[in-house]
Amino acid sequence: MKLQKYKKKIDKTKNTVALPRIRYKMKVVETISNLNTELLKHSNKSIGFVPTMGSLHDGHLSLINYAQLKSEIVIVSIFVNPTQFNDPNDFKNYPSNHKNDLDKLSNEKVDIVFIPKSVNEIYASEKPLKIRLDGIDKVMEGKHRKGHFDGVIRVVSLLFSIVRPQFAFFGEKDYQQLLIIKSIAKEHFKSIEVIGCPTKRDKNGLALSSRNLLLNEDDQKKAINLIKILKHCKSLFNNYDNTKLEKDFFEKLKDFSIPEYFEIREISCLKRVEDKTTKQRAFIAAKIGNIRLIDNIELN
Ligand code: PAJ
Repeated sequence: MKLQKYKKKIDKTKNTVALPRIRYKMKVVETISNLNTELLKHSNKSIGFVPTMGSLHDGHLSLINYAQLKSEIVIVSIFVNPTQFNDPNDFKNYPSNHKNDLDKLSNEKVDIVFIPKSVNEIYASEKPLKIRLDGIDKVMEGKHRKGHFDGVIRVVSLLFSIVRPQFAFFGEKDYQQLLIIKSIAKEHFKSIEVIGCPTKRDKNGLALSSRNLLLNEDDQKKAINLIKILKHCKSLFNNYDNTKLEKDFFEKLKDFSIPEYFEIREISCLKRVEDKTTKQRAFIAAKIGNIRLIDNIELN
């Protein structure tokens, strides 16, 4: 069957999809049982895993390229996880296009794509985990998107148990998420190495994001200010104390519909520090209309 002839049907929960059959050897599975059958065929090979929510862009593809360098088999999951959306409208509007995603993955020669056929397919096997995060989940995204990380932790733990990879790849674009997942793996999935990959940007510096698809041309121009503000802060980092930088650069977000935060934090515990020789990053979050964007930059 030719790629153009794919037909897909996605129900309103976005999590049931009639999967197309594809010519490329890439296997597309929608149940854990079929995934296990595929995994058995590769039992001696190292597995690299890239979890996603689909609407794939070059940022996702860069993670896949890192996975290909490090592992023999690459598995990508596509699952718009309802438990991590604190805003029902954000979930409803989250872009989803399985046909495009499968075309891109097929071009990248991914080995297995796991698109769970329902929310239950993933969550039925859930056993609650006790997670100690020492507060890294409470600041920034944790504070502004209540419950978001609980949902991320639930789904990533489930996916890790189901896929059982040696390596898992996450973007520094969602730096706080990356730290939280590294922490969970250290405590509960010791055989999985979590690897952080750099943020992929467009030619103007805007961090690629599935949500960028929801921005019109004017909004995209506004969105570029996020990286401009971060870079400006980086250039002044050694000259001013962090409290002043946080205050002044938060002010620069006033042109956004909702400025959420501008924070400077240590890179592994996400605490505030003043010592300029301690490694730190600046984090930014703001809404343009209803579209929420985040970004961050290494400062020293
Ligand atoms: P999603 O937003 O689809 O992102 C999937 C992965 O791609 C994440 O690790 C994210 O950090 C990474 N990513 C996104 N944009 C990127 C960019 N511009 N450059 C590099 N990497 C980028 O993050 C999630 O999905 C979900 O929370 C998930 C982990 C899949 C759990 O549901």
